[in-house]
Amino acid sequence: MSSQITIKPAAGRSAVEIAEIVANPGFGRVFTDHMAVAKWSTEKGWHDLSIEKYAPLQFDPAMLALHYGQSIFEGMKAYRWNDGTINTFRPLMNANRFQRSAKRLAMPEPSQDLFLSMVQELVKIDQAYVPSGGDKSLYIRPFMFASEVGLGVRPATEYLFLVIASPVGAYFDPAKAVSVWVSTEFVRAAPGGTGEAKCAGNYAASLIAQAQAKEQGCDQVIWLDAIERKWIEEMGGMNLFFVMGSGDEAQLLTPSLTGTLLPGVTRDSLIKLGNDLGIETHEGKISIDELRSSLANGKISEVFACGTAAVISPVGMIKGEFGEIQVGNGLPGEITMRLRKALLDLQTGLAPDENSWMYRLV
Ligand SMILES: Cc1ncc(COP(=O)(O)O)c(C=O)c1O
Repeated sequence: MSSQITIKPAAGRSAVEIAEIVANPGFGRVFTDHMAVAKWSTEKGWHDLSIEKYAPLQFDPAMLALHYGQSIFEGMKAYRWNDGTINTFRPLMNANRFQRSAKRLAMPEPSQDLFLSMVQELVKIDQAYVPSGGDKSLYIRPFMFASEVGLGVRPATEYLFLVIASPVGAYFDPAKAVSVWVSTEFVRAAPGGTGEAKCAGNYAASLIAQAQAKEQGCDQVIWLDAIERKWIEEMGGMNLFFVMGSGDEAQLLTPSLTGTLLPGVTRDSLIKLGNDLGIETHEGKISIDELRSSLANGKISEVFACGTAAVISPVGMIKGEFGEIQVGNGLPGEITMRLRKALLDLQTGLAPDENSWMYRLV
């Protein structure tokens, strides 16, 4: 059975040390005392599943992941609720995306049961690290890579699947809108490539554009499609939404999943949540020219990005070779912040879970 995990409790930090970390977690600075580990080989399939002490891994310099990049990951969060339970958000969507990423990179696909059991057992043993309140949560990072040793270019015959976790606070300051640089020099993903997969190489290839955005005084990069360099796809590590119109008339538009965007769990949830809140929400295409003219004539009143790490992040300024254009008054918009609160309230147990999206871990 895939979920037969051997639990090997290890001595970790003291309760006082953990309380200090949890009170002021930062983002991804400190990891919990344990990690979940599973091995896969063509001979044995999944085997040696364990929860063990968080510790450095030892590997051979010829480990295949280092050379040919078979490496994928996920990102999800656990929230401590006022009733004392610890819950996560739509974990099967992460499990399914992990399977699709694995398939695209010719890696073995962990079952939903294995994925969820590894996450759940890790959170259970390290539950003291789950912060409570506001924007705080335990960030959970499942990841898998080719651990076989060799230099042949082919799918590896051995893999390691691990889950680690880190208590986190807010990723961005939600009260501040981010500025974004529209990259026309670099692209993130092309049709037939790996844009839909959450694989390490996509992020490596994005860093140069992110550095360029910083040089231009921007916080993040916006990606256009690879063929026409015209259609807006997504932002850095987040999906994008545009608020068309304002007040009661406002509608939401998010770029369609064309195969080159990462299908975000938050994106999917906001499409449903927007409609539930009476804000008609559409998937479609929007070009950079249309965005510029709609910002100029006020047809688009707000822009925001969404993802697990930052939840919802308002966009206040868009820059590119064309110059720069402010979004609304440059500050977080009303609909953006309404959606942010609705999603966070749901995730932290302050609002009813009408779609049965929350999953109790502890
Ligand atoms: C490239 C990219 N787009 C979008 C997202 C948002 O996805 P999710 O809402 O599942 O976190 C992420 C983060 O995982 C990402 O890395």
